Amino acid sequence: MDSVKIAVTGKGGVGKTTLTALLARAFSEGGRRVLAIDADPSPCLGQALGFPAEVLARLEPIARMEALIYERTGAQPGSIGGYFKLNPRVDDLPDQFSVEHQGVRLLELGAVEMGGAGCICPESAVLRSLVTHLLLRRDEVVLLDLYAGVEHLGRATADAVDAMLIVVEPTRRSLATAEQIKKLAGDLRLTRLFLVGGKVQNEEDRRLIQAGSPGLPVLGYLPFDEAVRRADLEGKAAYDLAPDLAAAAQALAAALEQVRVLH
Ligand SMILES: Nc1ncnc2c1ncn2[C@@H]1O[C@H](COP(=O)(O)OP(=O)(O)OP(=O)(O)O)[C@@H](O)[C@H]1O
Ligand SMILES: [Mg+2]
Repeated sequence: MDSVKIAVTGKGGVGKTTLTALLARAFSEGGRRVLAIDADPSPCLGQALGFPAEVLARLEPIARMEALIYERTGAQPGSIGGYFKLNPRVDDLPDQFSVEHQGVRLLELGAVEMGGAGCICPESAVLRSLVTHLLLRRDEVVLLDLYAGVEHLGRATADAVDAMLIVVEPTRRSLATAEQIKKLAGDLRLTRLFLVGGKVQNEEDRRLIQAGSPGLPVLGYLPFDEAVRRADLEGKAAYDLAPDLAAAAQALAAALEQVRVLH
C-alpha cells in the first residue's frame, strides 16, 4: 500500500508546520510520492520546506482563484445562497496548481472555512471536494497541515484520514488543547488519533507529555532544536540542517506506515 493520509493539528505555535515539513521530507526520502497541503490562511509550509522564493511566487491559494471557482461551481466566490455545484470537478487541480521542491509537492488551500454545515459557499465546495479527492487517492502520501482544530474536516475527510496527529509541547496548555481536539474529533467519529510531542528537551518533558495525554498514544517525539529557527532565517528546510530532527521524522514516518497497515 503506497498511500498514507495524515492530518496534523494542535494548539497555535506548537510546531505543526515544522512537523508536517519534516514528515514530508522523510516520506519523500523513503521513495514515496508526497503531497503536502497547507491549509493555513497565512501559509508558511512552503518556507518550512525550504522552497525557493521564486517557486513559492508561482503558488497561488486555491480559494483565491476566482475564475477557477466560478468555472467549477458556476458561482462567484463569496456568494452565499443561490445555486452552485456542491461536487465540482477537482481531480486536475493538484497537478496544475502544486509546486515541487526536493521531491515534495505543495498545494495551498487559502482562507476559507472548509467544514461544518455552517459554511456553504462556492470556494468551500471546491476546497472540500479537493481535500476529499486527495485523501481518497491511493497512490501517494498526503500531509495536511491544519491550522487549528478538526472543524475544517468533514465527515468524509475524517473517514479517509489514516492518522490525525495532535502536536503538543511539554506545556499544560497545549495538552488541554489536545483534549479539546480529541472531543471534536470524537464528534466526527475520528478515532485514529495520536499525540506527537514537540520541542522536547529531556526525559522530564517526555514524561510530562505521557502523563498529560488525554488518553491518547504518543506516536513519537521531535527534539527541540535551535536549527528550526536557523533554517527559517536561512530559508532552508530544518530536515537538511538538523540530523536529529531528520532521524526523529524518519522514525515517525515508519510508525505512521504501521498505522496505515492497521487502518
Ligand atoms: N522542534 C523544534 N525545535 C525548536 N523550535 C521549534 C521546533 N518546532 C517548532 N519550533 C518553533 O516554534 C515556532 C512555531 O513553529 P511552527 O510554525 O511549526 O508551529 P505551528 O504549530 O505550525 O504554528 P501556527 O499555529 O502558527 O501554524 C517556530 O518559531 C519554530 O521555529
Ligand atoms: Mg503552522
